[in-house]
Amino acid sequence: MVRVVRATPIELATAVQALRDGELVAFPTETVYGLGAHAGYPAALRRIFELKGRPTTHPLIVHIDSLRYLTRWAREVPEAAQKLAERFWPGPLTLVLPRAENVHRLVTGGQDTVAVRVPAHPMAQQLLTAFGGGIAAPSANRYGRISPTRAEHVREEFGADVRLVLDGGECKLGLESTIVACLNGNVQLLRPGAVTLSQLERVVGGEVLTQSTAPTVRVPGSAGAHYAPTTPLSVIPSEELEALVASLTEGGLRVAVLAQHPPLGTYRLTTWINAGQRAETYAHDLYAHLRTLDKAGCARILVQQVPADERWDAAYDRLQRAAAASAAELAADDGSLAAVVPG
Ligand code: TXA
Ligand code: MG
Repeated sequence: MVRVVRATPIELATAVQALRDGELVAFPTETVYGLGAHAGYPAALRRIFELKGRPTTHPLIVHIDSLRYLTRWAREVPEAAQKLAERFWPGPLTLVLPRAENVHRLVTGGQDTVAVRVPAHPMAQQLLTAFGGGIAAPSANRYGRISPTRAEHVREEFGADVRLVLDGGECKLGLESTIVACLNGNVQLLRPGAVTLSQLERVVGGEVLTQSTAPTVRVPGSAGAHYAPTTPLSVIPSEELEALVASLTEGGLRVAVLAQHPPLGTYRLTTWINAGQRAETYAHDLYAHLRTLDKAGCARILVQQVPADERWDAAYDRLQRAAAASAAELAADDGSLAAVVPG
């Protein structure tokens, strides 16, 4: 069956009107679902922060329908940014650039920069073209939680608090866009995504800095804990996974496992997902799998460490952050479970 991913004229008209009225509209992109607001409507922007429970110092990405509108948002487009936009837009790349004067501080988090992206999902394109302006949109999840890759995830997250959710099916990529800052003559990767470091370097024709080599750009909202299920999650080295599952389940603990192979042994009290060994499929399914494991009634989620290869960088990054969030919650707890599982 062919999945229809285009909005009907009525859906589209309703969504555009809602945005103009300052309401929020959730919409699909090829990465994750976004919670969109008119980027020039402060009350609507404020609603995003309220609904997500997100600090207003964390800036938002402005979505536009094409590169030709970039200069409405950015006062300067360095050559590297121009090349990257031409190569990867529409697509999973966000550019951080010097902001144009009229961009609202709720979009920029009070910084002198703005993040902009042109999404490729046909329904996002339809919406942006019909709306005719910028749509500020974070991922459509509560602050710190797992990003949605299906319309029903947005519903689970917000219920009736978001009146309009455009259903564009499953997001093709499944992890948030690659974020790149082009500022002060540097090109710097701020968040790994489907567009990899070497792809960026090939297009720029020079070195692309990373947060670890040159942590110069502030990325409010990206530090530490994020992307977390409510069940504590730990990332476990491949060679330790089976032994750990065996010992925890023998001790009577229910565990949820996200691995890249089927279980070698038979374990009681275990929900085991084999997410496979293809980076693209793993990324596509990662958040949906974490949601499934989070609902499995287990005490812990154990995730097999992913390969050290740039195609896995985005998944690696999100898993580290999910684990960091769990570690922080466990530390605030009595620490009894933290003692059982490393990492
Ligand atoms: O794939 C995506 O990028 C999705 C879809 C909906 O487009 N959006 C998304 O938005 O992931 P959000 O808000 O969940 O993540 C945006 C990240 C935040 O970590 C924020 O700090 C960073 O972008 N960001 C936004 N503006 C920035 C700026 N001016 N400077 C540095 N970082 C910025
Ligand atoms: Mg997010």
